[in-house]
Amino acid sequence: MNRFANQTVLVTGGTGGQGSSHVRAYHAEGANLVIGGIDADRGAALADELGTRAHFTRLDVTDENSWSAAVSAAESTFGALNVLVNNAGVQNPPAPIEHTDHATWSRILDINLTGTFLGVKVAAPALRRATGGAIVNIASTMGLGGTAHYAPYVASKWAVRGLTRTAALELGRDHIRVNTIHPGVIATPFIQQPAVGATTAIADFYSPEPFAIPRLGEPIDVTRLLLFLTSSDASFITGSEYVIDGGLLLGPALQTETA
Ligand SMILES: NC(=O)c1ccc[n+]([C@@H]2O[C@H](COP(=O)([O-])OP(=O)(O)OC[C@H]3O[C@@H](n4cnc5c(N)ncnc54)[C@H](O)[C@@H]3O)[C@@H](O)[C@H]2O)c1
Repeated sequence: MNRFANQTVLVTGGTGGQGSSHVRAYHAEGANLVIGGIDADRGAALADELGTRAHFTRLDVTDENSWSAAVSAAESTFGALNVLVNNAGVQNPPAPIEHTDHATWSRILDINLTGTFLGVKVAAPALRRATGGAIVNIASTMGLGGTAHYAPYVASKWAVRGLTRTAALELGRDHIRVNTIHPGVIATPFIQQPAVGATTAIADFYSPEPFAIPRLGEPIDVTRLLLFLTSSDASFITGSEYVIDGGLLLGPALQTETA
């Protein structure tokens, strides 16, 4: 399929586990890619690997000037911006609320929530100039419930839902659709490596074995949903929340013995 020919897509955290999967898939479907990220070496390597139609730009999502430069790069390099994927995100080191320091709280909210807000704010005029487009904000199943010891992350992902619904209302008449994706546990450095300030990784204690689909999610699982949601096949979908978690939110798939 070539669903994104002549379209330009900006992916934040574009060199990460899920972000790089999204970048490669959009590129394979004909899109021009602006790879936003804070790791310049990885970004340059990914852009080189893709060859044509790929541009790396240093984008710290907490910095509004950095956002303006990234959106300008999309328009000056490729002529327009059609799709924004607010994918960059970080996890807090696990701790109960009463032992969570203010600086950690602020850092997680700054990247996961303010970074998404700035993306919508700065990209919206460019998407309007392109006569419409799509934004997907990557939330989490943790944005649909509570998880002990992850208050900053949980709160940030809940807030992304409210931001998304509001943006969908504000931008719908400009033909800009805005949705969230809520991944469960996906096999990326996010779970394989300890968060900043942590000593253990989520993969050290989490097992998918009790759940309906007893495997970790792969980045490509999320990528396939993302490409659908930002394609013209999803033209009537906005302000919606898509869970992709292998049944994690259903709870354990305990079976009773039958004769
Ligand atoms: N992996 C999971 O289990 C899981 C589950 C639910 C949701 N998510 C969400 O999926 C998204 C992608 O995560 P991933 O699994 O690919 O993890 P990852 O750690 O591989 O990638 C995260 C990316 O965000 C980037 N980033 C961090 N701070 C940034 C900043 N200030 N500006 C720009 N980029 C920054 C990192 O450099 C990295 O490239 C995140 O929003 C995460 O919260 C992940």
